[in-house]
Formats: sequence, structure tokens, C-alpha cells
Amino acid sequence: MDRIAITGGAPLVGEIPISGAKNSAIKLMAASLLTDQPLRLTNMPRLADTRFLGKLLQRLGAQVIEMQMADGPETVLHTPEIVSALAPYDLVRQMRASFNVLGPLIARTGHAKVSLPGGCTIGARPVDMHLKALEALGAVIDLHEGYVYAQAPRGLKGATHRFPFPSVGATEHTLLAAVLAEGESVLENCACEPEIVDLADCLNAMGAKVAGAGTPTIRVKGVAKLHGATHAVVPDRIETGAFACAAAMAGGEVRLTKTRSDFVQTLLDKMIEAGVDVTTEPGSILIRRDIGKRLVGVDLTTDPYPGFATDLQAPFMALMTTAKGDSVIRETIFENRFMHVPELARLGADIKVHGGEAHVHGVESLNGAQVMATDLRASVSLVIAGLAAKGETVVNRVYHLDRGFERLEEKLGACGANVRREKGGESEMDA
Ligand code: UD1
Repeated sequence: MDRIAITGGAPLVGEIPISGAKNSAIKLMAASLLTDQPLRLTNMPRLADTRFLGKLLQRLGAQVIEMQMADGPETVLHTPEIVSALAPYDLVRQMRASFNVLGPLIARTGHAKVSLPGGCTIGARPVDMHLKALEALGAVIDLHEGYVYAQAPRGLKGATHRFPFPSVGATEHTLLAAVLAEGESVLENCACEPEIVDLADCLNAMGAKVAGAGTPTIRVKGVAKLHGATHAVVPDRIETGAFACAAAMAGGEVRLTKTRSDFVQTLLDKMIEAGVDVTTEPGSILIRRDIGKRLVGVDLTTDPYPGFATDLQAPFMALMTTAKGDSVIRETIFENRFMHVPELARLGADIKVHGGEAHVHGVESLNGAQVMATDLRASVSLVIAGLAAKGETVVNRVYHLDRGFERLEEKLGACGANVRREKGGESEMDA
């Protein structure tokens, strides 16, 4: 298994281009199952998760062609026919978002057998909201032996459905089914994340009639058929936010390019409050912190978009470990998302967790140590902390990072960070 070794203390100076959003790309790839024509996705991130989903889609009948074009990576997905409507346990278990093929499979073929994703290290993460919404659209769902058996032999039917919580995954999954349902669907209390707008834009480019994405109420007029399209994946706001935290932690001056500041406004506001110098320009964000200047602790609560993103909670906590004073960080989206705390403590951070709250008391400096990546977002927080820690920090189990961060060490290295990958044996993935 690969490890990442960081020798802390080097300021970051330079430019970091942001990749296409992982969380968007994997839903857009699932959308390709809805048509027998090719879907061309540009600005595609090249990640373990997208490669993995590509393999599952191939088993279902898709041709997946990855290309490196002059203006960036592209993927063309083409499923002339669904050859199998089965997504087996070993594939869905390894990447939870694989579950999102269920909706498109039912919508296109009238039936599907998809494994339940099972638990995950950041909490229980059930799929009850996904299934209730698909049932509202007329799918008949049976659960046995860990599988979802879904049937809609006469097709899905538009319906009004209210989500009990604005779940990102359930909103996207329902959209992926409702676009081919007969009649109108009105979806209420939807999640408003930019990735949902991106999915709706792509579906509309494919001939769907989706209105209101990005607001709590989405209306979908079902169409009989979708066609091929070309769509550019939106910039990754989590990668943007993580590199913004990295630049602030290491000190120096970094311009994040090919991104959108409005996607991370809540984070930028908190960074400014903490003393980071932030300048936004169309398509880029400049992050500056003088090496000698200590940040101050600020409090935050994670919330659905446009609130503070739960995926940026760990990176921001890393930043707070050396800020002056205290910072109270409340996690409201996932119940077990403080697994980075004991690892940050190994680097000398002073953090106490009480239920859903972490109290960070800023220390003067961190010291490098061996740490373990526990999940995708937690692992990048360890790299961020390592950038400022004295001596060497070695982050083990970096396959988590490879799921969501494209060429992380290369991008940081280009700005002067002393980060290198140490090759290990076979890499692995988990949910
Ligand atoms: C997505 C993102 C993830 C991000 C999260 C919240 C992807 C691939 N992942 O995850 O990076 O952290 O949004 O912004 O896009 N829940 C239920 N029942 C359900 C569905 C969700 O109880 O059927 C709960 C979850 O356990 C969690 C909360 O709702 O506590 C939010 O989950 P959700 O918004 O669905 O997150 P994901 O789509 O899984």
C-alpha cells in the first residue's frame, strides 16, 4: 500500500489547477445508462472512484473510453444495450456511489438487482430515502439477502415526493429515475449542492426536462427517451477547499485555478474570519498567509449546502490545530466523522470530542509522526497538517486519498511542498 511522506515547513507558492468534481462525475457516469447514445464528459477527474465505476458500468453493458485531449481528460460512455441489470455486492460494497445505478437501470429496463451498500466508516449511511423515493415513482422494491430487487415492468410514473432530509445522494438518485418516468414529478426538500445542478444540466442536455435544481423544489417532466450529449463536469469544490486549507496551513501564496469561489463561499468566509487573506477572481481564488502570522480559532457547524460542507470539516480542523485560541467544530451531517481526531492528536493537536462537537485548542506547532488515513476527507486533513508539522509526517493507507484527489502530491509539489509518494504493494479501496 502506498504511503505519502511530507516534510513540513515549506511554504506553498504557485498555482494549483482544480479538477472536475468527483462527486459530480460519478453521478454523471451513472446518467449515461439512461440513453443508448454516447455521453461525452469533459473535465473528468482521473480517480480510483471514477475508474472503479467505469468497470461496473462496463459489466452492465457500457463502453467506456478515456481520452486525454488538449484541454483536459474526457470520458465517453456508451451503453447501446443494458446487458446485465445486476450490480453485485463486491462492487457496490467497495464504492457506495455504485448504488446509484439502481435508478437508471429501473428507468431504462424496468428491473434491477443491486446490492445494498452496507455500512461505511463515517456512519450508518442508510439508503432508505433513495428507496422510498423510487417507490414513490412506482418501483416495486423487495429487499432480501442484502440485495434490492426492483421492478417497474410498465415503467416509472411521475409523483410528488418530499425527502425527510435534503440528502445529496437520494436527490440525485431520484432525478436519475424521474427523468424517464411518465408524467410530472415534484421533488420537495431536495439537496441544493452544485453537483445536483450539474447533474440536472447534463440530463437536460440529454433531452430531459428538469427545472429548479439548486433549490429545494425540483420539477421533472418525464420524457420517453434521452439522447447523447457533451457535458463539462463542474470544478471540485471539495478539492478547492482542501487546497485552500493546505495553502493557509503551510503559509505562502497559492492561486487555485479552474474553479469557482461561489461553491466554497462559506469556507472562504470562515478562512477570512480566521485571518487568511483571500482574493477571489472569476475562475480563481488567491489564498495568502504570511509565514509568521498565526491564525485565530473560529467556530463552525457543518450543514447542507450552502452551509459549511461536511467534506471540508476535517481539512478545516487541521487548519485550526495551530490557530490561536479555541475552535468548536460541530458535525451535523454524519454521526461518526471525527476519525481524523486521534490521528491529528498523534501530530500534537489538542482536540477533545464530545458527541457531535470537537473542541480544538490551538497549539504553537505540530510535530511529524506516522498517521493512518481512515477515510477520504480525513486523509487529506493529515496531509494538510503534515505540511506545517516539524519534521516528517507519513500518511499510511493513502488509497483513500487516491479515491478523491487527483495527483495530490504532484499538485502540492509544484508549489514547493516537500511531499513524496512511497510505493507499497497492492492498493485497495473501501466504501
Ligand atoms: C454525498 C457526498 C459526500 C458528502 C455528502 C454530504 C457523494 C458521492 N458523496 O454523500 O461526499 O459528504 O453528500 O454532503 O456525492 N441518509 C439517510 N438515508 C438515506 C440517505 C442519506 O439517513 O437514504 C443520511 C446519511 O446517513 C447522512 C445524511 O443523510 O447522515 C446525509 O447524507 P447524503 O446527503 O445522502 O450524503 P451522500 O449522498 O451519501
